[in-house]
Amino acid sequence: MVPFAKTGGLADITASLPVEWEKQGQETVVVMPKYAHIDVYAYGFKPTFMVVYVPISTWTEFAHVWKGHLPNSNIPVYLLENNDYFNRRGIYGDPNEYPDNDRRFIFLSRAVFEVAKMIDFKPDVIHAHDFHTAFTMAFLKSQYRNDPRFSKTAGVYTIHNLAYQGWFNPQRAMDFAGFGMKEFYPGCWFEHKSSVNAMKTGIMFADKITTVSPTYAKEIRNPYFSEGLQDVLGAKGGDLVGILNGIYYNEWDPEKDNYLHSKYNRDYLMGKHINKINFLKETGLNDRDNLDLPLIGMVSRLTEQKGIDLLIDKIEYFLGNNLFRLAILGSGESRYEDYFRYLAWKYPKRVYVNIGYNNTLSHRIIAGSDFMVLPSRFEPCGLTQMYALKYGTIPIVRQTGGLADTIEEYNSKKQTGNGFTFYNYNADDFAYAVNRALSLYSKGKHWDKIRLNAMSCDFSSSGSALEYLKVFKWAMDKVRLK
Ligand code: ADP
Ligand code: GLC
Repeated sequence: MVPFAKTGGLADITASLPVEWEKQGQETVVVMPKYAHIDVYAYGFKPTFMVVYVPISTWTEFAHVWKGHLPNSNIPVYLLENNDYFNRRGIYGDPNEYPDNDRRFIFLSRAVFEVAKMIDFKPDVIHAHDFHTAFTMAFLKSQYRNDPRFSKTAGVYTIHNLAYQGWFNPQRAMDFAGFGMKEFYPGCWFEHKSSVNAMKTGIMFADKITTVSPTYAKEIRNPYFSEGLQDVLGAKGGDLVGILNGIYYNEWDPEKDNYLHSKYNRDYLMGKHINKINFLKETGLNDRDNLDLPLIGMVSRLTEQKGIDLLIDKIEYFLGNNLFRLAILGSGESRYEDYFRYLAWKYPKRVYVNIGYNNTLSHRIIAGSDFMVLPSRFEPCGLTQMYALKYGTIPIVRQTGGLADTIEEYNSKKQTGNGFTFYNYNADDFAYAVNRALSLYSKGKHWDKIRLNAMSCDFSSSGSALEYLKVFKWAMDKVRLK
């Protein structure tokens, strides 16, 4: 959860929803691990000197509880301190997941209930995100079902990315979770292909399931996108809803953005140009010939999901023809990191590459670029394209998941649309979309119009938060009618 710990868009979404719910009159309590890198003192967290006792297998484990708030809100955030589980450098373990992620996240999923008891909080809904917290859905319907505090609590499970499912060894996971092997048999709610599958567990035990865009909600019914879970999703299809992620415009608005060299808005696009020039100077891409060349940016995890292969396939053709400059910020698979380092070495005046994670730089690249590329193979939602729109940076995207729900091809006759799209996962189609984008660059009224269209889009998190409340109500009705 931003600003405490982040690996991707999940952190932005889990931070913006409670803030919106607070404005909409709802009370939210957040529980998350006290990861070693969270700067607890900077964010004002304090130890409560309370300890939660968490049943694991046949014994009890514990966590010290720290309390703080989401910045600029009254939303309490409880951090669970357990050195065996969370006092290590990473969050999930990179590049390979920690071998004890089953135990770490089953512990977290169970501890949530004990925190609620400790602070005397009776939730209407428990909202869990992705496979790491999926076991809360199972605990809610088993160990805590007859506890009066939770007997009317509804479970809502949000899928941010079906590609990460949490495949656990049944002997370990069923034992840690307190179910035992007698509950594990082919076709049971925990089982998929003879393993415990945390994602399936969350889906099966939840009262309602959401995912992060309407198109992804449809796509994952098909084997191409379902990562093997199409039957599970089919079985629970009536309870599955796609809610488009929203953007927290307090963080992502060029008019308010303190990371920028010059703030700007749609009436002052010179400010955007100042950001571009400064970025080019800072990164050594400002050779004097052709200062006007477009700048294409990418801020992304460097994984196969993000369609990096399509970019790699065509990039030397574009750079060889001197058609644009490229700025890449990201980290991930070493094959991609190594390739981009090579590219920056080969084209030092055309390509800037920063392998790492850098929030300030991400704002500056998004503001300074003319275009952002997101050729994703699949994209449950994607936030960068929505940030780009607000900054008048034109997205070039593959039409999938949330990218399809937010980006519409520019139509120069009707002057509608906010970006450039392609459908097939194919490098030629991608290159064709890039060419269409380049041909519009700096072309008088069309260039003005597409940027205006982009900056006028509103994907605010308040709308998205309201949609969640509807699903929560629906889940609560389901539980109460039982
Ligand atoms: P995903 O969650 O699949 O990575 P999203 O588009 O939903 O994709 O969210 C990615 C988030 O992470 C965005 O806020 C983006 O700006 C940020 N981000 C990704 N890579 C980096 C990086 N290297 N440095 C800074 N921010 C990054
Ligand atoms: C996942 C998805 C991304 C989505 C994010 C937040 O990481 O890959 O598409 O935007 O979650 O929901």
